[in-house]
Amino acid sequence: METSGGIALAAALAGYLSESAVATARPTPSDRVTRFVDEMTLEEKVGQMTQMAAYEVPTERAAEVLRKYKPGSLMYLTSKNPNEVARTSNELQKAMVEETRLGVPFVYGIDSVHGNNNLEGATIFPHNHGVGATWNPDAATEMASITSRTMRVTGTHWNFSPVADLQRDPRWGRFYEGFSEDPFLASQLVAAKVRGYEEKTNGYKRTGATVKHFAGYSEPANGNDRTAALLPYRTFASTILPPFSAGFTAGAETAMVNSGSLNGVPAHASKELLTDILRDRLGFDGMVVSDWHDFYRMIKVHGYAENLKEATRLGINAGVDMYMVPAAGIEGDTAEGYQRRLIELVDEGSVTTERIDEAVTNILAFKEHVGLFEDPYAAPSEVDEVVSEGRELAREVATESMTLLTNDGTLPLGSDVGSILVTGPSADSVANQMGGWTLGWQGVGDTKPPAVTVLEGISDAAPASTTVTHVPTGLREFTNEEEVRTAAESADVVVAVLGEGPYAEEKGDTDTLELPTAQRRLVETAANTGTPTVGVLVAGRPRGTTVFDHLSASVMAYLPGTAAGPAVAATLFGDNNPSGRLPFTWPTGTGQLLNLHNNYPPDQFNEAGDNRPPESDQTPLFPFGHGLSYTDFEYADMRISPKKLPQRAATDELTVSVSVRNTGDRAGETVIPVYGGRDHGQVLYPRKVVVGFDRVALEPGETERVDIRASILPLATVLGDVFARGELVVDTGEYWFAVGEVTESLSVV
Ligand code: NOJ
Repeated sequence: METSGGIALAAALAGYLSESAVATARPTPSDRVTRFVDEMTLEEKVGQMTQMAAYEVPTERAAEVLRKYKPGSLMYLTSKNPNEVARTSNELQKAMVEETRLGVPFVYGIDSVHGNNNLEGATIFPHNHGVGATWNPDAATEMASITSRTMRVTGTHWNFSPVADLQRDPRWGRFYEGFSEDPFLASQLVAAKVRGYEEKTNGYKRTGATVKHFAGYSEPANGNDRTAALLPYRTFASTILPPFSAGFTAGAETAMVNSGSLNGVPAHASKELLTDILRDRLGFDGMVVSDWHDFYRMIKVHGYAENLKEATRLGINAGVDMYMVPAAGIEGDTAEGYQRRLIELVDEGSVTTERIDEAVTNILAFKEHVGLFEDPYAAPSEVDEVVSEGRELAREVATESMTLLTNDGTLPLGSDVGSILVTGPSADSVANQMGGWTLGWQGVGDTKPPAVTVLEGISDAAPASTTVTHVPTGLREFTNEEEVRTAAESADVVVAVLGEGPYAEEKGDTDTLELPTAQRRLVETAANTGTPTVGVLVAGRPRGTTVFDHLSASVMAYLPGTAAGPAVAATLFGDNNPSGRLPFTWPTGTGQLLNLHNNYPPDQFNEAGDNRPPESDQTPLFPFGHGLSYTDFEYADMRISPKKLPQRAATDELTVSVSVRNTGDRAGETVIPVYGGRDHGQVLYPRKVVVGFDRVALEPGETERVDIRASILPLATVLGDVFARGELVVDTGEYWFAVGEVTESLSVV
């Protein structure tokens, strides 16, 4: 259905990025690619469409195994030792190139989601929800660039990152893997990471990015990983799709599919999602990889396909180009079984050779663009130097992410603090500060990444005259209450480092945002002594509810990685004037979910009236964008240019100019979010959405006029009745943009 004023989905969403962030169009597949496709046998093509685990290819039998399966891709590292990985990937690649008939290199894929979190000695950057708190796309690009360097020297070429799923439900165990609940903020950061991963070296992308998980994965209705999501098209098009589109617009040419189901169809079986929307409407021309074992999941998890052959037919015909199938030995879902079934399907005519050729072309074109045909090998001699890069950047980004939630004046700590008690389960825990996906799926095991803990950071930064004592406590046990009480009584301040242990995927699903009883008791014990108690939250989501009632000040540290110590310490002592802003809403508990800044109004019964039942109260603990500073900023004299936008030019950029003044007596940096909204219209509008943002650093008393690039597109919607399926439209009428308390109107005509 065409609505008057509708903008094609691809054009509307591409407009989220500034023109300079749009990648140049990819060339059509080269002669080399078409020649390979012509020359390949069906077995070789099906081989390209197979991704196996590297551990399934023992180096001593590499040539034999690679000749048998002809895999287009390998995944997972064989070791955590970077030199060993470089050596092994070279051995395997040499066998692939020199001992298989056509010598097409495999593309080696891994999850390096916050630095190269697979390699011993590599810098671990903050997880993405912490990056979201920096609102700093340039930092995201730099981190991704370093990550890709460590990947390429160790012979890995393809990163299953970044996550473009919006973080809307903190019950979900993958909350920390995404950047924000806001589509515009998440879009800028997804694109920024793609740019860093795909930096060009010698004319080719250093590594390829994957935008995942297409789409609707982060919205399971009951908050549990890989369970059913239900999304109306209006929400899907205007809210869920933008960060994916941003990743593709920035150049990413692989997409990984959502493991769950959407509106009653597993995403892996949905031609509407993987072909009609992804390719035909968003204009994606790259390759689609399944998530792990997801043809199998169509049978046993979703109860959808009858058997693996049917699931393979559905998935490949829906648009999956490559199946991620490291053999877990589950009921025949192995590389061998998959390849046999796919060949049978082609022989029977249930999958066309055109579909196979299209998939193989997408895969080979991707390999060409990451320079595999020029140089598929690791660079062992560079490994040691490159792997340790990024330590200083990790400190800067973690520091920038620190978000001051509450403060009664206890922070920053003065140089006169004689003694500090550092306690809590994450005070001295490398595993907790890293979170999941760190030298292991569920987080740090025996091998430790480079790290400075919060305790070490505070001890290093404390003035020589300050005594720092440490009393450890557990995540879920509090057996040393008396020891903590005594230590708190004789301290000038208590720093309680609280939060969560590491987890990944479904193992992180939770039905409470309350901190465990042990941690609440710890805080009460310390605070009841009368000693000011500062909470530092190290967590993958807004974790903590009533605990704030007992804290004199609190800092959200996210999952800060390698540099947790210096980042937290600088914030507590005031060397960092905190500038992080929450990239998500912090609800009072799961009862408020989904509590989002961009919900449609109202959020509670009879919101405007005087008989609101308190039980329906939706006021969050901390709103989206919250973040205190040790100084104050004032905004004035906001101007939008142009003030009147013809509807046909809705994709054009706008400039919001505002004067910002540091009214306090400390230098500080602040993020300036620009929000937009609309008071009434043909459909409901989100309460507010981010339409632009920037950062500014100001000396005390200094004023600066800041020009911020903004867009009306985050307010595009699908017009029509409840099941409308039209194009995105920026409707004519009056909108408002706001910075702090200052609001200006803008009309679309
Ligand atoms: C499953 C996860 O859902 C996905 O994000 C990841 O990239 C793959 N496993 C590979 O590890």
